[in-house]
Amino acid sequence: MERLVAEIKASYRPKLKVIEWRGDRLSLLDQRLLPFEVRYLELKTVDGVADAIRNMAVRGAPAIGITAAYGMALAVKERPLEGLEQALEALRIAKEKLAKTRPTAQNLFWALDRMYKRAEAAVQNGEAKNVKDLADILGSEANKVFDEEFESEIRMGLYGVQLLQPGDVVLTQCNAGSLATGALGTATAPIYVAKHLGIDVSVIAPETRPWQQGARLTAFELRENGVKVKVIADTAVGLVISRRMVNLAIVGADRILADGTVFNKIGTLNEAVLAHEFGVPFYVAAPASTFDLVHRPEEVKIEERNPDEVRTVRTVNGNVYITMRDIDVYNPVFDATPPKYITAIITEKGIITQPLDRNIRRLLSGPQNT
Ligand code: MRU
Repeated sequence: MERLVAEIKASYRPKLKVIEWRGDRLSLLDQRLLPFEVRYLELKTVDGVADAIRNMAVRGAPAIGITAAYGMALAVKERPLEGLEQALEALRIAKEKLAKTRPTAQNLFWALDRMYKRAEAAVQNGEAKNVKDLADILGSEANKVFDEEFESEIRMGLYGVQLLQPGDVVLTQCNAGSLATGALGTATAPIYVAKHLGIDVSVIAPETRPWQQGARLTAFELRENGVKVKVIADTAVGLVISRRMVNLAIVGADRILADGTVFNKIGTLNEAVLAHEFGVPFYVAAPASTFDLVHRPEEVKIEERNPDEVRTVRTVNGNVYITMRDIDVYNPVFDATPPKYITAIITEKGIITQPLDRNIRRLLSGPQNT
């Protein structure tokens, strides 16, 4: 496996950079404009990063975590600070601000904790002698978060590809691809690794109302990367599964609990229940940083977004209303899939099979299963 990890890492040439750290600022591909326009945001402040996450210029749990990590690095760069105590205070404020941007993605909270703890340790053990040292340490730590995510995705891809046969059609949901992570993606990692190994697989992408991540982002990135993809309306998922037009489903996750409950984009639960009913294997792909072994399902906040996302559709000319401007709307953007509907979870440490509640703890705390 190590040889393939190194080989894939060395040969990776992304067509579009999603997240790029430039030392004094963060360059982010603005995903709100895709697939029609490629434009970058150049962010130098914590507020700018928080807005980009909240308004979904960057989205997808791992990409949110990586972006927030760079946001923490900017917290000690964006204005002159008098000393290390003031820098730690700026980091506490930044952490609080960034944590309020989106509530469901576990990677966000994981990355913020990691960055703050790294800063605290560097101050306590004398590694950071001044604010400049601390800023350099945090820049490197955020780079590490990004690089480790990339490597995890290659490993997920190498485990996940073992579940694929040549000619398979994979159903996904939302965008859990390179646009959601800055690298190979989670759900797409096995697909990109299959492509690298010359195994021909194709994808069916539900459009994913209301934000249309499937139609706008998954379709765009797969086509850019030479993977055959077909978009369907979300309402076609039942037919596609019941007629066995897909061999398996692979989706990403925003948070996975110790009992195996998976929080992911709204519509995932529908897919999982239908896949279970019709005997189609249903896989979730996610790195260890997406697992939350602390909370129970009822304690996880499901984000509700602006009702206008449902009242309108996004078009190249902006949003167009498809219903009354003042109609009452409910717009939850994630759902919770109970473990019984999940065949297995693909992680960088190996594939977690049923019973998920026992095997999640076992794999996440144990050595790698290669
Ligand atoms: O609202 P989004 O676009 O941030 O939701 C993204 C998803 O639901 C993804 O499936 C999940 O974050 C995994 S991304 C690898």
